[in-house]
Amino acid sequence: PKKIIIDTDPGIDDAMAIFLALRSPEVNVIGLTTIYGNVYTTLATRNALHLLEVAGRTDIPVAEGSHVSYVKATKLRVADFVHGVDGLGNQNFPHPKSKPIEKSAAEYLVEQANLYPGEVTVVALGPLTNIALAIKLDPAFTKKIGQIVLLGGAFAVNGNVNPASEANIFGDPEAADIVFTCGADVLAIGLNVTHQVILKDHDRDILAESDGIFAKYLSKILEFYFSYHREAYSMNGAFLHDPTTVLAAVNPSLMTYTEGVVRVQTTGITRGLTLFFNKQKRFNEETEWCNKPTVKVAVTVDATEVVKLVMER
Ligand code: BDR
Ligand code: CA
Repeated sequence: PKKIIIDTDPGIDDAMAIFLALRSPEVNVIGLTTIYGNVYTTLATRNALHLLEVAGRTDIPVAEGSHVSYVKATKLRVADFVHGVDGLGNQNFPHPKSKPIEKSAAEYLVEQANLYPGEVTVVALGPLTNIALAIKLDPAFTKKIGQIVLLGGAFAVNGNVNPASEANIFGDPEAADIVFTCGADVLAIGLNVTHQVILKDHDRDILAESDGIFAKYLSKILEFYFSYHREAYSMNGAFLHDPTTVLAAVNPSLMTYTEGVVRVQTTGITRGLTLFFNKQKRFNEETEWCNKPTVKVAVTVDATEVVKLVMER
């Protein structure tokens, strides 16, 4: 199985994504790294440890990530209105007994990429600060990491923080621009794809009736996430951003992709905007737009199959 490290800000859809990865025989989750986003980093770490305790997988190390964005002046924003103040649907779960490892997330990422050159996939489900810090710590990280599969951006559609920006990119646009232009094998899954992948109210009812420990647990925390979607999007269901991203690492053929340069806007009211372009000849190749490495961006998804796999697993 493919070795993966999940960089995460749990987060209700992050919790689903972690459980999904643990149930996917195609991948071996070798570690979790944490980041602010849906909650602050300290709580993200606590939730990551808690989720591994629920799963009975405290053998998997958790490395705590950055508490601040790459350019420290950036004001952090947490999404308690989407995920609850505890990040997991306000369920008052007990504090975990386990502790994170001594190494920081960036140090752990670099260490694992050195241990298994070309073999580790990072599945990034929050702001990209830790990945940018890993690149800063060791510029060769971009050559040693197998792939970076990330949930981020809104390609030619509106964002979810504001019309310009998707939450994970908005959380640290400078870090995101570094990751998109770093030259590693990067695959981005944006809202243009994940807004097609919807878990319905009816699916949650099925999870609630199941005896499976993940199904029962998720049906409870999903209540809060569903009520946010009902309110904000008038939907009877919820978007599966992070689980879709895990499945892009598990089985890339569930999606189709295009390749081009992605740059991230870092100023003004469009801060966090992701702009994709396919290096057309009419653009000057010397410019900062064109002289960058390309990345893959998901274009279409087999949403029915993704939801089916999430439910099964
Ligand atoms: C992303 O932001 C977070 O709220 C979710 O967990 C997901 O990673 C969606 O924009
Ligand atoms: Ca997330």
